[in-house]
Amino acid sequence: MCGIVAYVGHQNCESILLSALSHLEYRGYDSAGMAFILKNQQLVRLRAKGNLFNLSDKLLKFQMMSSSPIHAQIGIAHTRWATHGEANEMNAHPHVDNEGRIAVVQNGIVHNYLAIKSRLSPKVKFESHTDTEVIAHLIAFYQNEKGLDITNAIRNTINDLEGDLALAILSVNAPNEIFVYSRNTPLIIGKCSDGYWCASDLVALNACEKYMRLPNDTLAKISAAKISAEKLARETQITEAKWEAEWEAKWHRMPVLNIQKQGYDSYMLKEVFEQPKIIANIARWDEAKVKGWKKGIKSVQLIAAGSSWHAALIGQYVLEKKARLTTRVWVASEYVKANPPLSACSLTLAISQSGETADVLNAVKWERKRRKEQNCLYQCPIIAITNRKESTLAQYVNEIWPMNVGVEMAVAATKSFVATLMMLYKLAGIKTEELLPLASEVEHVLRTESTRMREMAEQVIKFPLCIFMGRGLLWPIAMEASLKLTEVANLASLAYAAGEMKHGYLALLSQETLVICLSCADHQVEEIEARGASVMRLDLEGEQIHVAIKTLVCLQMLSYYAAKLKGLDVDRPRHLAKSVTVF
Ligand code: F6R
Repeated sequence: MCGIVAYVGHQNCESILLSALSHLEYRGYDSAGMAFILKNQQLVRLRAKGNLFNLSDKLLKFQMMSSSPIHAQIGIAHTRWATHGEANEMNAHPHVDNEGRIAVVQNGIVHNYLAIKSRLSPKVKFESHTDTEVIAHLIAFYQNEKGLDITNAIRNTINDLEGDLALAILSVNAPNEIFVYSRNTPLIIGKCSDGYWCASDLVALNACEKYMRLPNDTLAKISAAKISAEKLARETQITEAKWEAEWEAKWHRMPVLNIQKQGYDSYMLKEVFEQPKIIANIARWDEAKVKGWKKGIKSVQLIAAGSSWHAALIGQYVLEKKARLTTRVWVASEYVKANPPLSACSLTLAISQSGETADVLNAVKWERKRRKEQNCLYQCPIIAITNRKESTLAQYVNEIWPMNVGVEMAVAATKSFVATLMMLYKLAGIKTEELLPLASEVEHVLRTESTRMREMAEQVIKFPLCIFMGRGLLWPIAMEASLKLTEVANLASLAYAAGEMKHGYLALLSQETLVICLSCADHQVEEIEARGASVMRLDLEGEQIHVAIKTLVCLQMLSYYAAKLKGLDVDRPRHLAKSVTVF
């Protein structure tokens, strides 16, 4: 997954592109780049491996070496999470054609890029191993070999591309316009007083007053003054470019995006500390409104990935135990393969913080299709719990239940996980008065357990293997804690249900192993110690639904400290991106 930004307007764009890009780094940070067109119509491209500081350095050098100040008011930029080709400068976006007249940034995948590459070879010289580079060359091919103007060359190119993708394109043949296109991949247009922005995510558009999602399969041509756009129906003839009047109604007012660290050293820590407030807000949700959802429903299936899947596993416990609803949980990537029997009265609840996870989208699309085929699309709705109302997932479901917890910037899910749990507790019928005290309990935990978690982290980082063990709700919490420790502190870690220990895991115990026991029985702890492994216990008091969240909050801090002690960037774990938009 990658992040795209584009700007056309009346401001000098190089530094503001960089600043917008910094908000998208969670989407990928192995390399970054930008291209802009100077007043003399020269296209400049700058790229760098690693994070944005390196690109910023390159920009500074370029500015210092220029004989006169740069006045570029149109540009595109990109932050990359490598899919095709290793993370290096050569593979960083933007990619250009051989004459350096067209620059392209992409988020997505061009499945048929190898076929296009061989179609264009040997005339074209390829410099990278990416799928994106073929796009720039193909546009140039349609211009040079087929004599098309830039707009038609882009249209034809897009029609040749297979796969889901979002694009931003610059060309010296249209030096005052950016071209953007999206197919099943988010691209948001932002309107501000001096021009237009375009980005993969709303968070990069906080300078704008209004925004709208670029409709699917749509090519837009944007200048500082206006947008013209057309739907590209791939199988039918290309239509004349027009800005459909009804789109004017699609602008939304930009929400207030709380994307500063506010004195915390990282987004992760800030987001961990936001949790008491989030718990209180969701606890107060109107019970009467929440109650209605179960009407006519006989069972529930939850579909999710990663941390959201762990939240769903806890959801299963509470929906079965408290709401007495038969509940199944699916890892999104397995859902289509499993092809479970369709039941008309089964509610499908997709959980995705980002609303962009490819496996979740695929599962939901497949579910929709088969419900339609079997004529039961609306008998029992498909609903999404998401933190991003504007996401792709929102386009595919009958209803959205938004978390409303503000943008989560750190790659590791923390507040969105807790918000999902709270929503599932609420859906299971757990009452406000039972949930509200949890907010102050979590606040207390954050105040009082921090030192203990830091001390625990000092030990944890010494062990080559750390195992989390829990029972009931604390089993999925153990899984979530293990995932957090692995992703942010890069430590090898496992999680299992305490009762499973004798069924195989005992074999892993040695002096090299640390087992973190979450409210486990004394005899289970003794059995571990008897085999020479080190044990740490975390036994918080209270109702299980409270203990689960309090324990998790402690273990979020444990991972944070472990990462800090190892000198790692907690917000940007290596090789990971916040939403996984590819299979
Ligand atoms: C872990 C993490 C990931 C996500 C997973 C699903 O900290 O962030 O495991 O939970 O990629 O993401 P969403 O919920 O956006 O579908």
